[in-house]
Amino acid sequence: MTTQAAQLDQRELEERVRRMYEEVALTPDHEFHFETGRPLAERLGYPAADLDRVPAAAIDSYAGVGYFFDLAQLQAGETVLDLGSGSGTDAFLAANLVGAAGRVVGVDMTAAQLAKSSRLAAGGGFANTEFREGRIEAPPVEDGSVDCVISNGVFNLAPDKGAVFAAAARVLRPGGRLAIADIVTEHQLPEGVTCDAALWAACIGGAMQRDACRRAIAAAGFRLDVWRTNSQYRFLSERADNATAKYGVTSVSLLAVRS
Ligand SMILES: C[S@@+](CC[C@H](N)C(=O)[O-])C[C@H]1O[C@@H](n2cnc3c(N)ncnc32)[C@H](O)[C@@H]1O
Repeated sequence: MTTQAAQLDQRELEERVRRMYEEVALTPDHEFHFETGRPLAERLGYPAADLDRVPAAAIDSYAGVGYFFDLAQLQAGETVLDLGSGSGTDAFLAANLVGAAGRVVGVDMTAAQLAKSSRLAAGGGFANTEFREGRIEAPPVEDGSVDCVISNGVFNLAPDKGAVFAAAARVLRPGGRLAIADIVTEHQLPEGVTCDAALWAACIGGAMQRDACRRAIAAAGFRLDVWRTNSQYRFLSERADNATAKYGVTSVSLLAVRS
């Protein structure tokens, strides 16, 4: 666990994260520190035709930070795990790409997100998609059973990033891919930002310094193949914006392969 995370009360932090993403699931029109919804997804690079095949209510609560499906290169029949699946936009998009012979499992810890994604899966006839309650540090998924792990805007929220990369390595088969988008920083964030639970829950306070992130990926047994900055992503509130400009907070999409 990082020092900054240790300095924050873990239970309070988890509650703040849960409350924020419960609100994103239930009232996506609310104002957050970050953008949500279809206009954001389209600006990040999601093809409109792919979004058209995802339930609109899932996209309303989309709170991702980047596009990575061009890196993931999902194939028909593959098994995909979405860590922190939220209301399900990426999981449903993945489900359409892997088709009836494939399988998608989404894992999330927030009850309102799980209820929404599960309801939309049933209503939309996504028979190959399932949402499970769990933590991204210990997803309820068998070792070596997954072809591709995806995740969008979630690793930064976990106090122990090493545990999350290790969990992704555990569930992937050898040669499996990790294709994610997340927030990183150029400079290590100061305590004023890392100890601010609201900024943590908004995907800023817990962002890893980019070199430390690359080291954590390698330490978990991955070869990093692609690291791409998503300059289209921006935060909305003044407080978030200040931290972003000062410490080089950016969104990246990356592809790593499990050795
Ligand atoms: C920024 S939202 C992104 C949701 C989704 N990936 C998307 O793109 O819309 C973060 C999600 O991760 C979940 N989450 C955060 N920390 C988690 C953890 N440690 N274990 C499981 N889920 C977590 C939250 O409940 C929330 O649904």
